Amino acid sequence: MILITGGAGYIGSHTVVNFINAGYEVIVFDNLSTGHIETIETLKQIGNVTFEKGDLKNINDIDEVFSKYKIDAIIHFAAYSLVGESVVNPAKYYRNNVFGTLNLLETMVVHNVKKIVFSSTCATYGEPKYVPIDESHPQNPINPYGNSKLTVEKMLGDFDTAYGLKSIILRYFNVAGCDSQNRIGEWHEPETHLIPNIMKSVFDKGQKFKIFGDDYNTPDGTCIRDYVNVEDLAQAHRLAYEYLCRTDKSDVFNLGTENGNSVKQVFDECEKAINKSIDVEIVERRQGDPAVLYSNSAKAESVLGWTPKKSIRDSINTAFEWTKKQYNV
Ligand code: UFG
Repeated sequence: MILITGGAGYIGSHTVVNFINAGYEVIVFDNLSTGHIETIETLKQIGNVTFEKGDLKNINDIDEVFSKYKIDAIIHFAAYSLVGESVVNPAKYYRNNVFGTLNLLETMVVHNVKKIVFSSTCATYGEPKYVPIDESHPQNPINPYGNSKLTVEKMLGDFDTAYGLKSIILRYFNVAGCDSQNRIGEWHEPETHLIPNIMKSVFDKGQKFKIFGDDYNTPDGTCIRDYVNVEDLAQAHRLAYEYLCRTDKSDVFNLGTENGNSVKQVFDECEKAINKSIDVEIVERRQGDPAVLYSNSAKAESVLGWTPKKSIRDSINTAFEWTKKQYNV
């Protein structure tokens, strides 16, 4: 059985769908602090999913799950992921993302489970020295969120050396879009991400969409990011797990599309997709946003056989359908 921590959350739940569609038996472990019980109920209707509510910060919670089921591997998403919040409340990030993961890894060693796929981030690279960013780009995070993810990457290396625990680290760029059948989607409270915020502003007149700065050193002055579709990303997790089973070798991969889109380009694409003009206001830069980030994901393609199949328009269309459902439109 595959244990998916954080499987009630955004990327986790889409990965659960991918694994159950491929015939795996999945246990979701989630404390529901940012994930949703409604998502679990939907996942149970889709396929063979068992839910165990628990918190990685309590080692007994996780130990009970390992005692109860025969677990082959972990896909580990459970984490807090808001950069701004991590700056004002670093303890929350170290306690949950680092200490919680330490509990998980120690429990894996005790129960002799030696495979994990870990959800990391391009935030571990910090301010880019060059683009596209490949896996050997220096890692100098500029916020506690990135530090917490990099610390876990280092812990994974140490646990491999000491106990032969094998890991695949996946560093995502900007994840976007929702389930193509509109059953699950991106549901963060508060929502901070670009595409869902544009979509919310269409339905909620109190939520005018704001572009954070148009004076960056980019062709149209707005930040450039690499938007990778969540279903493509979910597929990468399964390919990574199957690669780990074949090779029993730890490795690390960037996951992005290798294409950059500016905030204005994404906004224009959203207007085209919904065939409507959307109100927008240009405001000050948001602190900590690098001007340009996009990936070199050639390694994921050549080693895992992963190629992103969906376009940014696919991500926008599915995000729009999901937002309509949330607003009962
Ligand atoms: N943006 C806006 N208005 C909004 C929301 C975002 O202009 O309402 C802009 C941001 O300033 C940024 C771009 O849209 O230039 C993308 O912002 P997101 O918040 O969607 O994504 P980030 O690039 O900040 O964050 C993502 C992940 C993080 C990860 C980070 C690494 O969500 O988990 O990449 O840089 F840490």
